[in-house]
Amino acid sequence: MTDITSQTKAALSAIAAAESLEALETLRLETLGKKGWVSLALKTLGGMSSEERTAAAPAIQSSRASIADALESRKAALEAAALDAQLARETIDLTLPAMAAPRGSVHPVSQVMDELAEIFADLGFSVATGPEIEDDWHNFTALNMDETHPARAMHDTFYFPDKTDASDGKSGEREILLRTHTSPVQIRSMLAQGAPIRLIAPGRVYRSDSDATHTPMFHQVEGLVVGKDIHLGHLKWTLETFFKAFFEREDISLRLRPSYFPFTEPSVEVDVGYSNQGGRRVVGGHGDAPGHAWMELGGSGMINTRVLEFAGLDPAEYQGFAFGLGIDRIAMLKYGMNDLRAFFDGDGRWLAHYGFSPFDQPTLSAGVGARA
Ligand code: DAH
Repeated sequence: MTDITSQTKAALSAIAAAESLEALETLRLETLGKKGWVSLALKTLGGMSSEERTAAAPAIQSSRASIADALESRKAALEAAALDAQLARETIDLTLPAMAAPRGSVHPVSQVMDELAEIFADLGFSVATGPEIEDDWHNFTALNMDETHPARAMHDTFYFPDKTDASDGKSGEREILLRTHTSPVQIRSMLAQGAPIRLIAPGRVYRSDSDATHTPMFHQVEGLVVGKDIHLGHLKWTLETFFKAFFEREDISLRLRPSYFPFTEPSVEVDVGYSNQGGRRVVGGHGDAPGHAWMELGGSGMINTRVLEFAGLDPAEYQGFAFGLGIDRIAMLKYGMNDLRAFFDGDGRWLAHYGFSPFDQPTLSAGVGARA
């Protein structure tokens, strides 16, 4: 009896002094574990006569209960101490200067898209989007490029193996593809909203093409204006006004060169005058002046009447203009990069150099291209 009492006392003080959860577990095994002395003592009760058992049992039972309680409370105390230590270790010092931490930046493409939205919003344009996985009706047919049109072959299109049924009640299967330009958003927007309409549609487009100025994925912005008395003069004014605001200089000269697109008639290509200064292309001045040249930035024209019909509008009532510009190209011109592929490498050093502060929201009042 005294044996159990003193053994229990020794165990309780060892438990109270245990410094770690591992040490506590060792003590549990030595006492209440299968081969622990308390368990073995309990087992001896089975072989006793009933008087012996009545005399011996209470001491063993109470030893087991007090040791179990002590183990549990010491465990809780050790766990609480471990949590406190962890919390103390993992404190975040909110007073540390933010510069010490690595910072993200706004990609030039995102920045330019925000600049576009800001400038065109001021001219009364809304921003529209469309799916990057398109069908060939929206990407080609409705833009006046039927199955046999040679321009389809010029687009280096990525096709999916599957086909889809026309979702809008028109008959026939459609090819599924990655849109090769943002022009299908014209069709989707006119079908959904009717006319008059005035929007831009920036976004990703895809072509199987790759070198220093071409990547398989790149960005375009589409412009679309449809109304009752829209003419080529509106197109020229809109592009000029946009480029002056975008490049933040007045001496922008645009050249509209006769061209061909299936979805516009007449069609023009849009060139902007630039000069080479210290190996860098700088927009401004007349492209025919000494030391200056023209750079092509996109296509545009008056919307082909066939396209208006495909989009559900009556060409006798409505006409309009459209344009498509390469966002990456105008970003390279404005911010001085010379290799398009670096846009999509995700290199932190490039992003730190060419990226923008998230605090640098483009606004017309503060300047659409303000740099941190
Ligand atoms: N979609 C043409 C392309 O990707 C660009 C384009 C040209 C868009 C003329 C237009 C346009 O809206 O009117 O090459």
